[in-house]
Amino acid sequence: MTKGRFLSVEGGEGVGKSTQIIALAQAIRAHGHDVIITREPGGTEGAEAIRSLLLGGSDNRWQPRAEALLFAAARSDHVEHLIKPAIDGGKWVISDRFLESSRAYQGGGSGLSDANILDLHAIGSGGFLPDRTLILELDEVEASRRAELRDGGVADRIGGRDSDFHAMVHSAFRRFAAEDPARIKMIDAGGEPQAVTKRLIAAISDLL
Ligand code: TYD
Repeated sequence: MTKGRFLSVEGGEGVGKSTQIIALAQAIRAHGHDVIITREPGGTEGAEAIRSLLLGGSDNRWQPRAEALLFAAARSDHVEHLIKPAIDGGKWVISDRFLESSRAYQGGGSGLSDANILDLHAIGSGGFLPDRTLILELDEVEASRRAELRDGGVADRIGGRDSDFHAMVHSAFRRFAAEDPARIKMIDAGGEPQAVTKRLIAAISDLL
């Protein structure tokens, strides 16, 4: 059986990831592939349990290193129990966030080095990488407007951090794409949703 593919979709808060992931999955299904949508932190029973530890509670509940370890542990379970078996079974897997979120939020935003995060990923998941990573980007004003509409002003403990933190996350995403342009693509998330979906499909068309 031909192996499936693994795509991750990344971006800051309010860029429209969830809507776009559904549209992207539909487009890939139209090419005759089986598609599973999953998310991080989470996706498996164990990783969802870690998710509630990570996203609930006060802003300083975890110090940055503990937080990075928990994300890596959740990812390890997700890769072993869901992503790899699905791909081996010929399915395409789209994950709403993956490694680049840890690199951007725990690395770029919280001060751990990129090498630290990649080491944790090597330990937890054998360094397993997506075939393609699509990072949605939107200007800050539009993104906070959309995030506010979605969350009604009540963000989770990481999403609710200040605008300097989110600016660091955004510039980290851009740096990763510049460093690994074959795997990581920045996608303009502005304009009509259908136009954004077209850009996403164009960025994976060589894999279809
Ligand atoms: P979620 O409710 O899934 O938000 P979003 O719709 O923005 O994806 O919350 C996930 C939060 O966790 C989000 O603020 C980003 C953060 N995060 C990290 O800090 N590191 C990671 O490795 C991952 C996967 C997520």
